[in-house]
Amino acid sequence: MNTLKYRIDPGNPDLNILEIVARDLKKGELVVFPTETVYGLGASAFNEAAVKKIYEVKGRPHDNPLIVHISSINQLEDITVGTGCLSPEKFRKILEKLWPGPVTFILERKAHVPPQVSAGLPTVAVRFPAHPVTRKLIELAGVPVVAPSANLSGRPSPTEEEHVLEDMDGKVKYILLSGSTPLGLESTVLDLTSSSPRILRPGPISVEKLREILGTDVEIPESARGRKSEKVPLSPGMKYRHYAPTKPLLLVEGELTEEIMKRLPQKSIIICSKETASNLREYPTLIWGSKNDLFAAAQKLFSLFRDAEKTDAEIIVAEGVEEKGLGLAVMNRLRRAASRVIYNR
Ligand code: TXA
Ligand code: MG
Repeated sequence: MNTLKYRIDPGNPDLNILEIVARDLKKGELVVFPTETVYGLGASAFNEAAVKKIYEVKGRPHDNPLIVHISSINQLEDITVGTGCLSPEKFRKILEKLWPGPVTFILERKAHVPPQVSAGLPTVAVRFPAHPVTRKLIELAGVPVVAPSANLSGRPSPTEEEHVLEDMDGKVKYILLSGSTPLGLESTVLDLTSSSPRILRPGPISVEKLREILGTDVEIPESARGRKSEKVPLSPGMKYRHYAPTKPLLLVEGELTEEIMKRLPQKSIIICSKETASNLREYPTLIWGSKNDLFAAAQKLFSLFRDAEKTDAEIIVAEGVEEKGLGLAVMNRLRRAASRVIYNR
């Protein structure tokens, strides 16, 4: 397929182009577009053939459900039933605080939403993205849009233009390019269908922030930390190895020292903070920024995975971060990408 590629300025989106793309999106074509988290691969949520194509293009397992993206809070009524474990008043309040933005809610699915959207589950994931290009595109399409991250299944999510071109060029009708995605990690997924709110995937909106806004506890199951211990995955997507670079990734939780590096027989490339890099001058490194700058770590992580693959190293060594705030989301991605973990605390 000849993919049409357009560069769209997020500060001043070209509406003529977006109108053409939105019309085709509504008709059933696939469109790759930027969001504030990562690039997404979009299809009309109510077009079953288009939803099916998403699974084919990504090579996505059929039991891994999709997120429905909307362009106004009112659209939620078309997709979900009720407000789960929250009172309608409380739910409304948190929506007003968090949407549009990088948080996805799981609620009961309305019967007319095609079951393929949710991989047959009685629930459905919904997000109202904040990125101006995403908002405008969905608004012009006039339909809710399902959009997984625009990577081939199992690959790191795309956060740069070149990543979407690597994975999606020739497979979809349109690719919209708007530079780096601002946050770099996928949305926080909050399940409201259990007896109390629980995190299925940590993301840019931290658990601490959610607890503060909700005024209640928010459960963090072990699987949300990215550890591979849970026997029955709560979120179907959690059981697959994810975000994995093409080279083995060794995660070091705790201090990444020269002693650890000396013991590794393979040629390596290290993903780490600038402080750690300055202690490991003899080794090649890819740096996200300062140790305490978790925002930078989140924004660059997937991109550094792809950069590391392109070096001649045999393995990737990654430095872990503290599991606080955004650190929980960073550690979830690192642990799930890792083929081995060393604990050095
Ligand atoms: O930031 C994001 O959320 C990006 C952008 C494009 O919006 N999208 C994204 O979609 O990350 P995807 O498909 O890569 O990840 C969706 C996650 C998966 O872990 C999936 O299992 C979970 O959400 N999910 C979707 N529907 C669910 C449901 N009904 N119940 C439990 N988990 C669900
Ligand atoms: Mg994904």
